Amino acid sequence: MTDIIKGNCEATLQLKKLVKMVAKSNSTVLLRGETGCGKDVVARSIHEVSKRSGNLINVNCAAIPSELLESELFGHEKGAFTGADSRREGRFEASDNGTLFLDEIGDMPMSLQAKLLRAIETRTIQRVGGRNEIELNLRLICATHQNIEKKIDEGLFRADLFYRINVFPIEIPTLAERKEDIPILVKHILDELEKNGSISPKIDSSGINALKEYVWPGNVRELRNVIERAAIIFPQKNITAKNIKENLLKVNLPDNSDEKNVLWEMTAELSEIDIDKSQNNGSIPHPNHYKKWFEFLEKIDLRRHLSEVELILIEGALKKNNGSVTEASKSLKINRTTLIEKMKKYSIPRLGSD
Ligand SMILES: Nc1ncnc2c1ncn2[C@@H]1O[C@H](COP(=O)(O)OP(=O)(O)O)[C@@H](O)[C@H]1O
Ligand SMILES: [Mg+2]
Repeated sequence: MTDIIKGNCEATLQLKKLVKMVAKSNSTVLLRGETGCGKDVVARSIHEVSKRSGNLINVNCAAIPSELLESELFGHEKGAFTGADSRREGRFEASDNGTLFLDEIGDMPMSLQAKLLRAIETRTIQRVGGRNEIELNLRLICATHQNIEKKIDEGLFRADLFYRINVFPIEIPTLAERKEDIPILVKHILDELEKNGSISPKIDSSGINALKEYVWPGNVRELRNVIERAAIIFPQKNITAKNIKENLLKVNLPDNSDEKNVLWEMTAELSEIDIDKSQNNGSIPHPNHYKKWFEFLEKIDLRRHLSEVELILIEGALKKNNGSVTEASKSLKINRTTLIEKMKKYSIPRLGSD
């Protein structure tokens, strides 16, 4: 039931209320929220509370190559394409009388969006290569961590499909917005680890406070990883704030008194950052890291700061691609002409041949 959603802070209680309310209906639900905040958990909870007799079928649209996604969703008839040796039921049919969970719907290829829209509107599907209309009774839940409105502006997501799936949007709070839940979540994660045979560490109150101070860009998934790491490094030990900050969190949170200096140092280092090195560690700062800035700073020159970040990223992309504007624009996922305009604005010389 909603019990699988752990926590009892105001934001979590509100979330559970919405789950209970919407589960009774058959309406399409759109779950929005950062990665790791619990979209899968909420989808499972809606399905369980709804008491639909069929299964919950999960499709991660981002994980399935786009050329396979159509037959994965809608199934295919024998001989529909090379390699279709036999008839196959798709995930839509598998979720008949149950719930279809389309995760990362923002990654649905444009070419499939019209067919998906039609399936949602008519509640019927056709297998690839088939003629029969197959009627289905399913509840649809979609999820995304992306800004779909922006994708619509960019021409990458159909507005009509968005309106179809945006019937009952639920915004899932980030872990930073529900920090009071951290003790309950930690206990839940430790209980699960113990069930799986791990020897749990004990986290003392200073440790719990340290966990509450951190910004959690990776949300509950990151919290789970930290606790799992703790069980490996410190089995049966007492874990303190010092252990949490120095051994378990990727980003060390300095003591309050040092915090201001460290933030300034971080900003100063921004212009000297070695792009190659920073890309090797595989992660970039998360926008949530900025949430805390006004606790330590009086003001920040937003335009200047964003320009500096932009300039550094453009220079880094050009360096990585040996000065090629075409390749650098791909690395930055912007149009080549946009990149050229920005290079003019920042007086960045064109060194490559394209
Ligand atoms: N409210 C919650 N209660 C219990 N576990 C949670 C909660 N939110 C997230 N989790 C756990 O955090 C991890 C990430 O959650 P998940 O639902 O996969 O996130 P998302 O789909 O948003 O990326 C999972 O291990 C999940 O069990
Ligand atoms: Mg997920």
